[in-house]
Amino acid sequence: MISAHGKVILFGEHAAVYGRPALAAGIYSGIRVISIEPTNGPLRVRVRPWNLDQTDQSDSPVGECLRRLSQIVQGDQRGCNVVLKAEIPAAAGMGSSAALAVVLVRCLCRVREFEASNEQVRQMAHQLEKVFHGEPSGLDDTVATYGDVCLFRRNGWDRQTLLGLSYCSLTPQALRVPCRKLTLLVGYSGVKRSTRKMVAKVRQLRCENKARVEKLFDKIENCLSDGLDAISTANNQKLGESLFCNHQVLTKLGVSCAELDQMVELAMSAGASGAKLTGAGGGGGVIAEASGHEEMVLAAWRSHGFEGQRVVLTGNNTD
Ligand code: MEV
Repeated sequence: MISAHGKVILFGEHAAVYGRPALAAGIYSGIRVISIEPTNGPLRVRVRPWNLDQTDQSDSPVGECLRRLSQIVQGDQRGCNVVLKAEIPAAAGMGSSAALAVVLVRCLCRVREFEASNEQVRQMAHQLEKVFHGEPSGLDDTVATYGDVCLFRRNGWDRQTLLGLSYCSLTPQALRVPCRKLTLLVGYSGVKRSTRKMVAKVRQLRCENKARVEKLFDKIENCLSDGLDAISTANNQKLGESLFCNHQVLTKLGVSCAELDQMVELAMSAGASGAKLTGAGGGGGVIAEASGHEEMVLAAWRSHGFEGQRVVLTGNNTD
C-alpha cells in the first residue's frame, strides 16, 4: 500500500534549519492511499478527512505543488486522480505537508511507471516541501519517507558515532537511531499556524541577535544529547526532562504560545515526566513522555478542550 509517515520532532526544530542536529521519529499513522486512477488529464488530489480537493489548476499551494510534481516525476506525462486518507491532522506539527508530498510522489511514480528509490522519493518530496515552506531543512521529508528515529543534520555528518554509540546512515543527512518501542502522547492545541511564518520569525530574531539565538541553539543541542542518552538507556524520566528543557528554550525563541505552554503544564501536573511543543510551534501540537500516567494526561488535556492520543514511534529495535 502506498503511504507516508507522520512525524514528531523530539529535539531540534528550528535549530535544524541552521545546520544544528535534530532528532525526529516517524509514527505509524500518516497518510495512505485509498484509490489511484491514472488519467490523461490533470492531477487531482482529495484528502479525507481534511476536506481537501485540489487539482493542478488550483490557485493554491497544493495546486502549485501538483504542478511541480508533474514536472519532476519522470516517465510518460500521465496524470492521476488520487483519494487519500490522512490519519494525522493538518497543520498540527505532525508533518502533514511532508507526508502529503511523499504520498503524491509515490502515487505519480506508480502511475508513470517510474521506479524511484526511497532516496529519490525523498528528494522529489523535498522539492514539493519547498512550495509549502520556502527553504525547509529536509527533516520532515526524510522522516515522512523513511519513518524510523532519525538523527538529522542538513549539512550531513562527518562522524557517525555520538555518545559512544554507532549509528548507521539512512541518507547522507540522516542517521538511524536504534530505539526500543517508545510510546509518546501527542496533544493538539487546535491553533492553526504556518511553518513558513514561524521559520521566518526565528530568522528575523537571529538577524537581530545572532549570538543570543546561537546560544539558544547550543542549549537545544545539549537537550538533544541528553535525550539521545535517555533513549539509548531507556530512561523515560530523563527523556521527559530533556523534552521539557527543549520546550523552555523554544519558548525563549518565541515559537510557543499560551495554549502550548498550558498543554505542557497540564501534562506535567498530570504526571508526565516532560513535554514540549513539536514542529514549528505557534500552535500545532505538543508531545509528552508520560509512561504510567497516559490516561491522566489525556484526561487533563480533554478537560481543557484539547484532543490527544498515543503515538508509537517507528524505531525498529529491541523490545
Ligand atoms: C518543521 O516541522 C520543522 C522546522 O525545524 C522547519 C524545518 O526543519 O524545515 C521548524
